[in-house]
Amino acid sequence: LSDILPSSLDEKVNYLFIMPLHIINHPLARILITQLRNKETSSDAFRTASKRITQMLVIEVSRSLNTELETVSTPIEETVGCKLEDKLTIVPIIRAGISMVEPTLEILPQAVVGYIGLERDEKTAISRNYYRKVPSLKGRKAFIVDPMLATGGSTLKAIDVCIEEGAAEITVISIISAPEGIKAVEEKHPAINVYTASLDRELSSQKYILPGLGDFGDRLYNT
Ligand code: PRP
Ligand code: URA
Repeated sequence: LSDILPSSLDEKVNYLFIMPLHIINHPLARILITQLRNKETSSDAFRTASKRITQMLVIEVSRSLNTELETVSTPIEETVGCKLEDKLTIVPIIRAGISMVEPTLEILPQAVVGYIGLERDEKTAISRNYYRKVPSLKGRKAFIVDPMLATGGSTLKAIDVCIEEGAAEITVISIISAPEGIKAVEEKHPAINVYTASLDRELSSQKYILPGLGDFGDRLYNT
């Protein structure tokens, strides 16, 4: 195993922890990531694993949400409870990010959803914006959801949209991230929180994440 594990990961993580980078360190997350990586995993099983890992990430992100007090009557007496205070908007990056919307809404049903369509050029890996339907984010917390953070180009474009729409706070949620992409986000937005289930080794010359899982959208939609 020591041959395939990145020997310099600790150094990279120490560097990257300058920004608020949260890597889920949970055995179930590691098992789900392994299923996603496995090229023999069917699209159906891939969708199930990606749903579960998204929900683990969202639960982790939700630790920082604000609540306000409210009273509630049990069948026996009144007591003090709480409800969500924050206004949330989920911002998926189409296509692959769509897979993270429903699992997130299951946990945060109050959230609004706004969509951004971005597609990487196959040769340059530079993303092109082809769709945008994001309502105003004034006073709202934006959760950008996209399973793969590779060069960071798509995430940076999505962050720009959220800033333009006046987001009060932006959080990035990705399933697998590359150090190069995290560094790119950190350079421009050092205070933005990034949650990920795995910080992989590096990018390939074609800008794919290594070891990664291949093209997330293709594996999800069987294309
Ligand atoms: C993938 C992925 C991200 C992007 C990450 O999308 O879902 O959006 O690549 O790469 P980056 O960090 O280098 O920008 P892709 O462009 O392949 O489009 P798709 O989701 O429609 O397949
Ligand atoms: N997008 C993907 O789907 N996979 C990668 O490895 C990089 C970008």
